[in-house]
Amino acid sequence: MNIPNFYTMNNGNLIPSIGLGVYLAGSQQTVESVTFALKNGYRLIDTASVYGNEAEVGEGIRQSGIERGDLFITTKAWLSEYGSVLTPEACKASLAKLGTNYLDLYLLHWPSPRTFDKTIEAYKAAELLVEMGLVKSIGICNFTPTLLESLMQETMVTPAVNQIELHPYFSQIESSKFHKEHGIITQYWSPLGGIYTNHPANPEKVIHLLRDPILADIANQYDKTPAQVVLRWHLAHGHAVIPKSVNPERILENMAIFDFELTSEEMANIDSLNQNLRGSAHPDIFDLAFLSDRG
Ligand code: A2P
Repeated sequence: MNIPNFYTMNNGNLIPSIGLGVYLAGSQQTVESVTFALKNGYRLIDTASVYGNEAEVGEGIRQSGIERGDLFITTKAWLSEYGSVLTPEACKASLAKLGTNYLDLYLLHWPSPRTFDKTIEAYKAAELLVEMGLVKSIGICNFTPTLLESLMQETMVTPAVNQIELHPYFSQIESSKFHKEHGIITQYWSPLGGIYTNHPANPEKVIHLLRDPILADIANQYDKTPAQVVLRWHLAHGHAVIPKSVNPERILENMAIFDFELTSEEMANIDSLNQNLRGSAHPDIFDLAFLSDRG
């Protein structure tokens, strides 16, 4: 099975199937990892206003020397930036930090169901940002199919992308199916299960997906690493991934997944690892109030 380097979104724009995530990357690490990734074949960088590293992503892009037109830059509006006035302001602030005059993809970071009116307002504002030429495509993150249906009932533009937590221990089959039916690209955050080991909100959750023996067995057969097997599994399912790494070797490793193929039996074995083990908070409860209660 040939894995494409790009997928076509529902508005005809292309999105790279794999990109670099920069969540929790420090300032200098962000500049260096973005530059290194872009010089080594990556074209998509995924950041967010709440990560606090958009300016460093912009600096990394500049240092890479890659032409803007060859890049795909994603950032996200944070919950405190939702609203008909706040969202365009936030988008413009992100553009200034990134040092670009348009975004390839602008996403709403969480659905915030308890203040969903504001979410709808933010999405409608994002629709206008497309008309203004500041954004090429819009989408959302962490929406369940039910919340997506509610959004789509009240807005005009079907999201191009829903970016959700997904890895072999949490395979969210219903969401992927729903997205496919509606022409929405599923893009995975934490595709390597980093959320189990590397999240400030989950210090007690330490689960090492990449040490799973089934993944290790498959990896040995192809002289690949478990991370490469997981990323190949994601792409073979037809979805987009944004593994985060600040380590040059792992940045290269995560891109070297186009030269081997998993059999249908191996795909099924990885599918069977699912434990519905969500690492993040449930989107139904995640909002600013939840965050402030959590402290
Ligand atoms: P590092 O940045 O030091 O490479 P996820 O994208 O699933 O959240 O995973 C991110 C976590 O996984 C980070 O801690 C990252 O660490 C680590 N990571 C990224 N690529 C690999 C890899 N190929 N093998 C092992 N760990 C990786």
